[in-house]
Amino acid sequence: MVAAKAGYTVILNDVKEEYVKKGLASIQKFIDKSVEKGKMTAEDKTHILGRIHGSMNLQDMKDADLIIEAIIEQVHVKKEVFQKLDDICKKEALFASNTSTIPITDLASSTKRPEQFIGMHFMNPVPLMKLVEVIRGLRTSQQTATTITQLAEKMEKTPIEVNDGPGFISNRVLFAMINEAIFCLQDGTATKEAIDSVMKLG
Ligand SMILES: NC(=O)c1ccc[n+]([C@@H]2O[C@H](COP(=O)([O-])OP(=O)(O)OC[C@H]3O[C@@H](n4cnc5c(N)ncnc54)[C@H](O)[C@@H]3O)[C@@H](O)[C@H]2O)c1
Repeated sequence: MVAAKAGYTVILNDVKEEYVKKGLASIQKFIDKSVEKGKMTAEDKTHILGRIHGSMNLQDMKDADLIIEAIIEQVHVKKEVFQKLDDICKKEALFASNTSTIPITDLASSTKRPEQFIGMHFMNPVPLMKLVEVIRGLRTSQQTATTITQLAEKMEKTPIEVNDGPGFISNRVLFAMINEAIFCLQDGTATKEAIDSVMKLG
């Protein structure tokens, strides 16, 4: 949705029609709420939804300038999809992965375009969260990093470049904190409700 809002034509691809419909419905629901709240107009809604096209065929990506992959967090599935896209997409197309944990260098190595491959880690819920972690693999070019940073800014996000490493920054720090909360519960330092309240309020 954020790409369509920024004026780009978007192809939303998934493996089954019901998943594509579910994705489009959740976008529509978010926009409807934004219109109700006066944050978007009915005209915005028409323009945004008009730019998003559902697809179940990877061949539809043949003219895409950029792929943003956000499929299940399984390295072999992601690599298989990127390998297919490598053959389908034009040679200038950039590939980005929204992976939370898989090394970008590893994913990039499954393609013939590691210089044009990058991590573009959006935060959930994407329309509301400003951060995009931009992660370069070992062979990602400066041009790719610059283009993706500028694109994230056009999507009204704040791109922050970090190095490739387990969990990058956001999840590496988050998971240490979540584990510590569980140790607090285990130690009997507080109830789970108290731990949640302390973290939310403090
Ligand atoms: N959920 C989050 O909060 C969050 C936040 C940031 C990043 N991510 C990352 O985004 C990615 C997706 O996470 P999720 O929580 O939405 O996962 P999910 O499992 O809920 O959804 C994945 C979607 O990918 C589709 N899919 C699976 N195989 C496919 C294929 N071969 N081709 C096309 N589509 C396929 C599935 O049908 C499903 O709709 C992961 O890499 C995850 O690490 C998730």
